[in-house]
Amino acid sequence: MLLTAVLLSISCYRDAFDDRVEAAVRKLSLERKLEMIGGYEGFDIMPVPELGLHKILMNDGPLGVRGDNESRPAMAYPAGVCLASTFNPVLFHEFGTAVGRDALGRGVGILLGPGVNLSRIVQNGRNFEYMGEDPFVASRCAVGMIEGLQGQGVVATVKHYAANNHENDRFRDSSDVSERAMRELYLRAFEASVKEAHVGAVMCSYNKLNGVYASENAWLLKDVLRHDWGFNGILMSDWGAVHSTEGAALNGMDLEMPSGRNFDPKMLRPLVTDGKVPEAVIDGKIRHILHTIYEFHLDGPLPKAIHDDPRNAAVARRIAEEGIVLLQNNRKTLPINPAKGERIAVMGFNALSPVPVAGGSAEIVPLHQESLLDAMNRTGLRLSALRSKDPDVNAALSFNGYTRVETDFSNIDGKRSFKRIPGGSTTADWTDSSPSPVGMGSFRGQVVAMFRPKTSGAYWLVSKCQGGVRVGIGWSHSVVHDDIAKPTVLKQMVFLTAGKDYDLSARFNHTSGDIHIAFGILPAASPLTDPKNLAALKAADKVVIGVGFNPYLESEGTDRPFQLPQDQQELIRAAILLKKRVILVVNSGAGVDLAPFAHDVDSIVQAWYAGEEGATALAEILTGKINPSGKLAASFPKSLAGTYYADAYPPKNGHVAYSEDLLIGYRWFDTKGSQPLFPFGFGLSYTTFKISRPRLTVNSSVVSVSAAIQNTGAREGADVVQTYVGPRVVANGFPLKELKAFHKLSLRAGGMAVVTMKIPVTALAHWNTADHRWHVAKGEYFAYVGDSSQGAIRIPFRIAKDTDYLP
Ligand code: BGC
Repeated sequence: MLLTAVLLSISCYRDAFDDRVEAAVRKLSLERKLEMIGGYEGFDIMPVPELGLHKILMNDGPLGVRGDNESRPAMAYPAGVCLASTFNPVLFHEFGTAVGRDALGRGVGILLGPGVNLSRIVQNGRNFEYMGEDPFVASRCAVGMIEGLQGQGVVATVKHYAANNHENDRFRDSSDVSERAMRELYLRAFEASVKEAHVGAVMCSYNKLNGVYASENAWLLKDVLRHDWGFNGILMSDWGAVHSTEGAALNGMDLEMPSGRNFDPKMLRPLVTDGKVPEAVIDGKIRHILHTIYEFHLDGPLPKAIHDDPRNAAVARRIAEEGIVLLQNNRKTLPINPAKGERIAVMGFNALSPVPVAGGSAEIVPLHQESLLDAMNRTGLRLSALRSKDPDVNAALSFNGYTRVETDFSNIDGKRSFKRIPGGSTTADWTDSSPSPVGMGSFRGQVVAMFRPKTSGAYWLVSKCQGGVRVGIGWSHSVVHDDIAKPTVLKQMVFLTAGKDYDLSARFNHTSGDIHIAFGILPAASPLTDPKNLAALKAADKVVIGVGFNPYLESEGTDRPFQLPQDQQELIRAAILLKKRVILVVNSGAGVDLAPFAHDVDSIVQAWYAGEEGATALAEILTGKINPSGKLAASFPKSLAGTYYADAYPPKNGHVAYSEDLLIGYRWFDTKGSQPLFPFGFGLSYTTFKISRPRLTVNSSVVSVSAAIQNTGAREGADVVQTYVGPRVVANGFPLKELKAFHKLSLRAGGMAVVTMKIPVTALAHWNTADHRWHVAKGEYFAYVGDSSQGAIRIPFRIAKDTDYLP
C-alpha cells in the first residue's frame, strides 16, 4: 500500500516534468533547438530567453569545483582513489554533499564528476581521479557521491563513458572489450549511477569502443544507456570528443561540448531538412536537457550556500585520514612519538613541497596548501629538512642541449603577420635599437626549445626575463616575469621523464619597452651532494622520504611510468645504504614499482593525492594521532612482467586488446595464484584485528554473511570486513572471487562486534551475451571473508536454482 503510494507519487512527479518539457519544446524554433545542443562559452548550457532560462554553469570536477576555462581556488579534496580507499560509504556521501556546497557557493548547477573508469593498468594518468579497480567499490563510491551532490540540488555528471582506461592517444585508440567485461566491470559504476543514484548527466569518453567512437557508439549510448538502463538525463560529450554530425546526432549524443562544432546549426539544418536527422531526434535531445533542468530546478535561482563552507575542510580531512593506507610497518617504525626526541630527516620533493592533487582538468587550485614537512613541523618532531641546493643560474641559462629551438612572432598591430625563426637560441633581446623581426610595436610569440631528457627526475627550469614573459613547459605550469624595468630570475622545479619530448617555452606579449629572454634547464642536484644534508641523514634515527608523482608526472592527457623517478630511487637507495629506518610516503594514483625497496625500508605509507588537508592527516598518521584505516582500492603489483599488466599496455596500432577480459586487478592475481606486492583491500593499522566465527545463511534472494571481529591490539582502530564470492569450481576465464560486500567499523582496544553483510543473490550473476541477460547459476559457491582480498576464511554455500534477469 505504502509502496504503491510512493510509486504513484514518483510517477506523478515525473509526469509533471514531462508536461512542462513538452510545452517548452513546442515553444522552441528549430534554429533555437539546434543552438541548444552545443555548449556555450566553453563550459555552459546556453540561456534560452523564450523559456526564461538563464545560462547554466558547468565546472570540473570531480575532486572539487575547479572552475571552467580558468581554474579558481576551491577546496582541493583527496583523489577519488583515496576516497575509495576509505571504504566508508558515509564519506562517499559526505564528499558529494561538500562538493555540492562548493558548487552552489559558486553558482554552478552541473558538476563534471564523478569519474568512475576502473584502474585497469597502473600507468593510466587519470587513475587518481577514479575509484580504484573494483566495480563494486566504484559503484558504492559513485552512488554515495552522486546522492550527496544531487541532494544539494547540483547535477552530477558521471564520466567518462566508457572504457577510457589510459590517456596517451586517448583521442584515437580503440578499447577492444568483450560485452561481458563491459557489463560486469567497466559499465557497472555507470549503471549504478543511473539506476540507483539517478544521475542527471553522463559524459562520454574520447576513445573508441570496439572501433566506434564512444560519442557515436549506438550500442553504448542507445542500447545500453537509454534502453537497458532507462537513462533520461543529459548525455554530453567530453570536450572535443565528437567526430561527426550525423553519427553523433543519430546515435544518442544530446550536447556537444565545449561548443557545437559538429552540432553546428549550419551543418545540422540541411540534415534535418533532408530527413537524415529527423527533427524528432533533435526534440529528444532537447527533452533530455530540459527534463534535467526542470527536475533539478536549474531554471530558477540556485539554493543559497555559504562560499567555502567551513564544514568542507573537515570532510576533506576525514577522507584523507581514512583513505591513506599504511602498507608496511616493520619494527613498529611508525608511529613516530614526538616525545621520544628522535632525529627525523625529511627528504624528497613530495615531502618538502605541497602535492595535494595531480594534474589535468581535475587539478584544483587549493584554497591553501602546505607540504608534509610544514605539517610535521606542527607535531613537535625533531626534524631536519634535506633540500636540493639552488641551481647555478649561469650554468642553467647557458645549457644548449636542445633537439630544436624556434621562435614564432606574430604582429598584433593592425595587419597580422607571422614569422618563424628556426634554429634560434633560448636567449633573445629586443629593444628599439635591435627590434624583433616584426618590429617593436605590439607583438607576441614564443621561443620554444625541445628537450629530451636522458634521465627521469627533478630539473630546475631557470629563467631570467624582462617584460611580460611566461616561462613553462607545454602550456601549463608556468612562472610569470612581469617586471618591465629589469630582468628577474625565477626558478621552478619540474619533473621530466627520460626519453619524452618536452617543449620548454617563453611566451611573450609585448606592448612597450625592452624585452629580454633567457631560459635554460639543469638537472636538480641530489640533496645529498650537500655535506650538511649528508651529515644530517647520517645522524638521523628515522628518515621520511616523500616520493611519487605530482601534476607534472601524473596527469590527464598522458600516462606515467610504473617506476619512480630515478632521482627518487637514488635517495631511497642512499638511505638504505646508510642503514636508516626508512619511512616512504608515496604520492600516486595507482601502484608504483616499490618492490625493489620494500624489503629494505621499514614503513610504506600510500598517500595517494590527499587534498589540501592531506598533509595534516599524513603528519597525524605518521605521529600516531590518527590510526590509519585505509585499504587499497587497487592492487599494487610486484612487477608488470609476468602479469596481465604487461600485455594490457601500451596499445598496439591504435587498439587496446582487453585480453585479460574479466581478470583485472585482484581478479587476475587471485585466479592465477600470483602474489601482488600489496593486495587489493589491504591496509595496516597501529592495532590488530582478528576475524572469526563466520556464519552464512542463504535464501532465495539474499546471502547473509556474518563474522565476529575483535580489536586484539592496544588502541582504538577501524578495520574493513570484506566478503568476496566465487564459484566452487572456477570456469576458465572467470574470476576466482569478486568483492560483494564490505563493512567498515571502529573498535576500542579489546572491543568486539559481529558484522552482518547481506548480498542479494542477483549480485552473483554473470552476463550471458548470447541470451542478452544476467544469469545466476545454481550450484556450489564459496564466500571468502577477511580484511583484504586475501582473507583466509572460506565458507561454502549453495544456490538452489538458476535465475535470469534482464539488464
Ligand atoms: C576531460 C573531462 C573534463 C573536460 C572539461 C576534458 O579534457 O576529459 O574530464 O570534464 O575536459 O574540463
